[in-house]
Amino acid sequence: MVASHYSAQLNPAELLRRVRAAFPNGALPRQLAGIDQLHIGGIQASQKLLTNVPQSSAPSYSVLEIGAGLGGLQRLCISQQPEQSALHYTTLDITPAFSELNRGLNRLCQHSRHGLGEHGNLSVLTGDGQQLAMANDQFDAVILQHSLLNMPDPQRCLTECHRVLKPGGKLILHEVLRGNLQQAITYPVPWASDATNSHLISLPALLAQLSTAGFTVTSAQDWSAEALVWRQQQSHKEADTEAMSVKLSPQMIFGKRFSLMATNLLSNLKHGAIQVHEVIAVTTA
Ligand SMILES: C[S@@+](CC[C@H](N)C(=O)[O-])C[C@H]1O[C@@H](n2cnc3c(N)ncnc32)[C@H](O)[C@@H]1O
Repeated sequence: MVASHYSAQLNPAELLRRVRAAFPNGALPRQLAGIDQLHIGGIQASQKLLTNVPQSSAPSYSVLEIGAGLGGLQRLCISQQPEQSALHYTTLDITPAFSELNRGLNRLCQHSRHGLGEHGNLSVLTGDGQQLAMANDQFDAVILQHSLLNMPDPQRCLTECHRVLKPGGKLILHEVLRGNLQQAITYPVPWASDATNSHLISLPALLAQLSTAGFTVTSAQDWSAEALVWRQQQSHKEADTEAMSVKLSPQMIFGKRFSLMATNLLSNLKHGAIQVHEVIAVTTA
């Protein structure tokens, strides 16, 4: 089960205790990037992705993020909104331990003077993105950042996204896709210990599934080259094990196995077995 992959080496209460000890006066959302940006490209990629979400919205703008992990994108988004913003951001994740951490990190950021403030506009839910417990036409935007890659039935998830989006609503994808099919994927990678939980589809397959779900693609960008550069830079930083032991890092989520996951990620990117894409689509039906 995918949730056990992510929580196998995780003790949420202990992790929250360590993070609170590191930030006794509360944290700024960007200070948590070492643990809450669990995708290729880190916080820089999230900043770029958020250019697709309006900064100021009247009377209201409603976002659903599916597979939000520890909620890093959500906190970054809310912290960049103007004070009077009526944006409401709901996260959904299938891993209960991640939802628990997400709520804990939201509280930590609300305690920082320059953090989130007392926002009533965040909701953290646990559930399956392939089967949304939400009514039709609820959201202005749905975001998936490295979460379709875990779904055995991506078509079902995309159809659900279309159902819960308002007419003209926007789907914002930042996903790992299958690259060169001749090139086998080396496991473990951060999203899967082996092929069981890894469900990468190719760009043509994704575009076909989006069309079947009723979306029109407005932009598709290959971010693989910058993803490779970012991963190389991270690997240099992570080689400094002493610094890593005191900093927030994905090792706190994945444990010691993260080192091999990161090495394989870099190799998969270098050999073209995987690619990283941003795809934006709007509902047409
Ligand atoms: C690689 S992590 C990315 C987390 C987060 N989006 C980020 O970038 O930091 C993949 C996330 O997708 C979630 N996930 C996987 N399958 C899911 C599903 N069917 N429904 C909802 N969430 C799912 C996992 O629990 C995990 O939090």
